[in-house]
Amino acid sequence: MPLIVMCGFPCSGKTRRAEELKAFFEENTKRNVRTVGDGSVGGDRNSVYADSQKEKNVRAALKAEVERKVNKDDIVILDSLNYIKGYRYELFCLIKHAQTPHCVVYCLTSDEQSSSWNSSRDAAEQYTQDIFDALVLRFEAPDSRNRWDSPLFTILKDDTLPFEDISNALFKRKAPPPNQSTQSQPLSSVNFLYELDKITQDVLMAIFNAQKTSVPGDLISLTRNINMAELRKLRRQFISYTKTHPTENTGHISNMFVQYLNKSFR
Ligand SMILES: *[C@@H]1O[C@H](CO)[C@@H](O)[C@H](O)[C@H]1NC(C)=O
Ligand SMILES: *[C@@H]1O[C@H](CO)[C@@H](O)[C@H](O)[C@H]1NC(C)=O
Ligand SMILES: *[C@@H]1O[C@H](CO)[C@@H](O)[C@H](O)[C@H]1NC(C)=O
Repeated sequence: MPLIVMCGFPCSGKTRRAEELKAFFEENTKRNVRTVGDGSVGGDRNSVYADSQKEKNVRAALKAEVERKVNKDDIVILDSLNYIKGYRYELFCLIKHAQTPHCVVYCLTSDEQSSSWNSSRDAAEQYTQDIFDALVLRFEAPDSRNRWDSPLFTILKDDTLPFEDISNALFKRKAPPPNQSTQSQPLSSVNFLYELDKITQDVLMAIFNAQKTSVPGDLISLTRNINMAELRKLRRQFISYTKTHPTENTGHISNMFVQYLNKSFR
């Protein structure tokens, strides 16, 4: 039966939410709830996420376990980062094939919050700063406009899980109330758009000034001079992309933009 895909930064409360869901569904539906998580695959998480091949293997193993456990009676909760858009798409294809409903529960936290939750964990469960930063940077936030991310329930730190809505989405295939899934406010907030605008503009000015004094600077390895019109066009592209794939940490915007430009110039 249904699959619930958890999603969120490392240490964003996914396991706690998964346990709450499990308790609710066991109590209210009398169905078995089977959780598939990183723990059931084994391996030290830092070494897994430091090595893309290992990470790939873990993802494949988790998916295979979901596939084995999805049946007509049980509810399966996939409690892992599930931070790659393409991976969530694969899960969607899997459940479509199994003809069972699904939903995504996104635990939305700031990286400061997650980092502080990391410190209060058992040593074996902690993420190193490097791995944590890399995962936050690579994180592809779910977007309810994508079929595979929908229905989407975005849960903030102090929220109570909307159990009834989740249950209806799974068992009655009722779409969640619109505000539930569009509530990524902290990300698409006016402030985020303002920062996005300002930071990308600052980066352009830095490049422009560096070119003027013909010191390419260490920002970007420029192989040729780029005119301002090209830069502005790339900035517009980056902004429209980032608006729909917001990063939670505005501190990452300038880095992402520099990398984006760097890639476009190569
Ligand atoms: C997680 O906690 C450990 C131990 O306090 C610390 O060494 C590590 O840097 C922390 N990671 C993050 C991302 O805060
Ligand atoms: C949903 O969002 C709309 C538009 O932002 C608002 O007017 C309405 O009050 C919200 N409903 C709930 C239940 O929060
Ligand atoms: C830009 O790309 C070059 C070539 O791949 C790379 O060496 C350099 O580190 C990149 N710079 C940044 C800031 O990403």
